Amino acid sequence: MPDIESLLKEKRVFKPDPEFKRQANWNKKTVDEYRKLGARSPERFWAKMAKKNLSWFTPWKKVLDWKPPFAKWFVGGKLNVSYNCVDRHLEGKNAWRRNKAAIVWEGEPGDSRVITYAELHREVCKFANVLKELGVKKGDRVCLYMPMVPELAIAMLACTRIGAAHSIVFGGFSSDALRDRINDAEAKLVVTADGGYRKGAGFPLKPAVDEALAGCPGVEKVVVVERIRDGASMVEGRDHYWHELMADASPKCKPAKLDSEHPLFILYTSGTTGKPKGILHTTGGYLTHVTTTFKAIFDIKDEDVYWCTADIGWITGHSYVIYGPLANGATTVMYEGVPTHPGPDRWWALIEKWGVNIFYTAPTAIRTFIRLGDEHPKSHDLSSLRLLGTVGEPINPEAWMWYHRVIGKKKCPIVDTWWQTETGGIMITPIPAGVPTTPGSATLPFPGIDAAIYDDDGNEVRHGDGGLLVVRKPWPGMLRGIWGDPQRYKETYWGSYDETYLAGDGAHRDKKGYFWIMGRVDDVMNISGHRIGTMEVESALVSHGDVAEAAVVGRPDEITGTAIVAFVTPTGTAEAGEELDKTLKAHVAKQIGAIARPAEIRFTDALPKTRSGKIMRRLLRDIASGKESTGDTTTLEDLSVLAKLRESEED
Ligand code: WTA
Repeated sequence: MPDIESLLKEKRVFKPDPEFKRQANWNKKTVDEYRKLGARSPERFWAKMAKKNLSWFTPWKKVLDWKPPFAKWFVGGKLNVSYNCVDRHLEGKNAWRRNKAAIVWEGEPGDSRVITYAELHREVCKFANVLKELGVKKGDRVCLYMPMVPELAIAMLACTRIGAAHSIVFGGFSSDALRDRINDAEAKLVVTADGGYRKGAGFPLKPAVDEALAGCPGVEKVVVVERIRDGASMVEGRDHYWHELMADASPKCKPAKLDSEHPLFILYTSGTTGKPKGILHTTGGYLTHVTTTFKAIFDIKDEDVYWCTADIGWITGHSYVIYGPLANGATTVMYEGVPTHPGPDRWWALIEKWGVNIFYTAPTAIRTFIRLGDEHPKSHDLSSLRLLGTVGEPINPEAWMWYHRVIGKKKCPIVDTWWQTETGGIMITPIPAGVPTTPGSATLPFPGIDAAIYDDDGNEVRHGDGGLLVVRKPWPGMLRGIWGDPQRYKETYWGSYDETYLAGDGAHRDKKGYFWIMGRVDDVMNISGHRIGTMEVESALVSHGDVAEAAVVGRPDEITGTAIVAFVTPTGTAEAGEELDKTLKAHVAKQIGAIARPAEIRFTDALPKTRSGKIMRRLLRDIASGKESTGDTTTLEDLSVLAKLRESEED
């Protein structure tokens, strides 16, 4: 990332194209009208959206009940998410969507499935009945640990149909990480697959589930989707094949009428301690937020094919592969594998094959494709594209311009969308037909979102100055808490400023009031758009017998945004060297997952600490990124340590 000074000098402005504006869902507003929309009363704005965009069984009595930091939205209202995402597209004036593609799925080997809304309805009802038969009840938690297969979408919607909360664990997480998440959420059932396809080969998933379940007494049943057919071992009485259970299931299942605040899902994300946080989202507010933002920001039309490349194991997949698109009756593409198999043009081939109109991906992917060469996108017909989006990390202006030029052929608006697992849906973003864009800026808060930048004392900074990104008023998609830990919820997000949500990101606003997100200010790293806590990696490292102490920091990386660097002090009996380096990297991958594997391990006799014993992270960060350390080191307990670290840097 270039520094803020050079970013704020970015002068390129891309005004909405009049032709795009004419056809847009949200097209009447000038940028000033957008700034005003929902500003006076976010509650009134969101209530209007909830009424317009969702179907309710029972209307709410009160829009918002705000007892900081606990919010309830649409109190007394009753609805069902699977009804909103599926059933209502089969009825009344929408009935023509019955045979419309809901999910276009492509497997990595090239197999594909197109699931219509009518078929999705049958499958969701059937699996909801399977869940019931296996003893899952309203209020229970179900863990989904799956590759990107259509059954994952079906399982999510089936959970929402009966009021069981799902907790999706990304398939790249290890068995240890899975075990902790299952136990924390007290999930009673796990849905998984024998495996999935990645980089041209099947990878097994079921063995990790078996390993995890050795430490999960609460899990009674496991449902296994057959995907790679590697003859996974099945535990008698506990494990059942998806297709066998589905064969006998009834395709009729009434959607449960759920309270607006009924738990919808838990999704674990990294924080500043070693223990991941189970972010809780509920029904009515979350669905209002994702349905409304999806319609306005991605300008979805019934004719569109929309593709978000995120894995459903992350929040982007929850909100903008499944819930937002399906609630709008859209066609959403799901792709199972890696972007570069069988060749570096796979994504562009997919856009051409399915005629994708709207494409949403991460800056890290864009940077990877820049490096792979323009010939790959250029060898495909991408003329179906009409809108592009990015999410997950700041996008550098060069990557933005490449995306605009090479993928969008200079005719597609780009929406750079800032949000988080905790916010549920998009918070800061251009409205494509209304807000001029500038490469590198996520521009303005979505209507009904009161974002600002504060200094340490809780005063709003002047435009041009930097500070901490906050949200001053509750919004419908906001997290309702951390599962089982209200205290941590209060301290993490609401402890700094009264009744104001602290996002954990640093940001600037320019003279126009546009937001420029600078990245995390806490001990959370953003690796390829995925959040990993430094503490998580540190705890994984010190759990190894050869490690006495470890400190983990991020250093800038051209492709992944941030790369993990670990400073490790081995125990007296262990020997620093290549062997231990390999062992520890594998150990972290085993403890958390491959995404947390350090790019680099540096061995040191001791870690630099302040007198009070705090590890001097800034110093380590500087050393890791090869910068001269400008920090004050006089508080170092042992300056020779710094010298030694510098030495290792010279190697
Ligand atoms: C970062 C992903 C800059 C940010 C939806 C945030 C971004 C974290 C952007 C949340 C963006 C996300 N520009 N930074 N457009 N979008 N981030 O929970 O640091 O996986 O706090 O949610 O990603 O990551 P999470």
